[in-house]
Amino acid sequence: MNKKGLVLISVLFSILLAGCSDSGNVEQSAEEAAAINDRIKPVGTVNTGAASAPATQQASAPAASSGKSGKDVYTMACFACHGTGAAGAPKMGDKGLWSSRIAQGMDVLTEHAIKGFSSKPGSMMPAKGGNMSLSDAEVKAAVEYIVSNSK
Ligand code: HEC
Repeated sequence: MNKKGLVLISVLFSILLAGCSDSGNVEQSAEEAAAINDRIKPVGTVNTGAASAPATQQASAPAASSGKSGKDVYTMACFACHGTGAAGAPKMGDKGLWSSRIAQGMDVLTEHAIKGFSSKPGSMMPAKGGNMSLSDAEVKAAVEYIVSNSK
């Protein structure tokens, strides 16, 4: 009688335990579902980020295709010489050095900057400042920037 009772109790216990572990499983899968949702969310965030990244690139792409500003080109490709006077380059802002050059007119200056120019041996303006990836329009914008700051 006592033994039967113990067996019954242990059977009941194991059913209860099984029930507990079942409900535990249910909770786990609910947690898993939540975890999956959480995993999906960051992916969605990353996708949004990836979608906004090209948007920023798109925003800057037209700027690149329509040309950098004269100041940007100057800083990137001309400053090394024209900001310092290196290699005998006429320094931007030195009105004395630029007045006779500016007198040639913008077309000549721009052509010299695009194709390269040397007025005396040992002094050489490299074509496009040595940066052939620049468009003619970008070089022209940089010449305009230099000239407007040198007269
Ligand atoms: C490696 C040095 C160097 C770089 C980089 C450089 N220049 Fe020059 N540039 C010179 C020198 C040197 C001269 C003077 C050449 C001469 O008169 O013999 C010169 C002259 C010029 C002149 C005057 C041309 C003339 O007819 O008198 C212009 C305009 C000019 N550069 C524009 C630019 C622009 C725009 C850039 C950038 C895209 C640039 N340079 C980058 C060295 C450089």
